[in-house]
Amino acid sequence: MDRALISSLAFWAEAGVETAYADAPVDRLKPVERRPPAPPPRAAPPAAPAIAAPRNEIDVSSAAAAAQALAAQAPDLEALAAAIAAFDGCPLKRQGARQAVFARGRPDAPVMVIGEGPGAEEDKQGEPFVGRAGQLLDRMLAAAGLSDQVFITNTVFWRPPDNRTPTPAEQAVCAPFVERAVALVRPRLLLLAGGASAKGMLRRSEGILALRGQWFDWTSSDGAQTVPALPTLHPAFLLRQPLGKKKAWQDLMTLALRLEQTVGKA
Ligand code: URA
Repeated sequence: MDRALISSLAFWAEAGVETAYADAPVDRLKPVERRPPAPPPRAAPPAAPAIAAPRNEIDVSSAAAAAQALAAQAPDLEALAAAIAAFDGCPLKRQGARQAVFARGRPDAPVMVIGEGPGAEEDKQGEPFVGRAGQLLDRMLAAAGLSDQVFITNTVFWRPPDNRTPTPAEQAVCAPFVERAVALVRPRLLLLAGGASAKGMLRRSEGILALRGQWFDWTSSDGAQTVPALPTLHPAFLLRQPLGKKKAWQDLMTLALRLEQTVGKA
């Protein structure tokens, strides 16, 4: 195989594409054959019988309540990791994920980085942010002097199919585990990587470009915990749009400065 082909395959594998759906090549540049417009539709056919609920539809509040009950019983991060792995209430678990991906980093870190959800490499290795985006995140944290200051996790713990963004329902089901992780690690600051993380954690609707670089108070659902949280651009976005690195770097500097002020005061 030539190098261009190997590199192209590696690119698609990294993007989460694992299966070819046709063996024969398709010439997508061939002129499209024009067909005459379709005749107007006839009278509507009789209503179809009620369709059964899709396999992955979930009752979010009962799944989140089950997650909450499990999370509350976890006395430490190890027990929390085991509780997440045993939890069957998140539909992502049944959509092709190989394993639960919880966290890595310092268990008493002053900064908790929360990404969106595991990708292909994380699903393989069982640790968050270990693919190309994670390597970029690590390089940026190292350059900001924050490598040994972080605990890294995600808003959901199973890889969404085709690396799609986790839905608010999937995030809501996993949220009690994220909250328990915050309660156990007790970070001074949160760094929310990407729009889905920022919107899910802060319960806001604006896009990441509007939220990034500003401090918000993250509050747990029972109101007992509040931690300052800084949304920033996702490293996977920075791999596609390197010009965004300047803004992400400004965010990391904002974080490092606040950390110095916060820990200095402790
Ligand atoms: N992207 C994320 O948001 N989290 C990971 O763990 C990996 C990629």
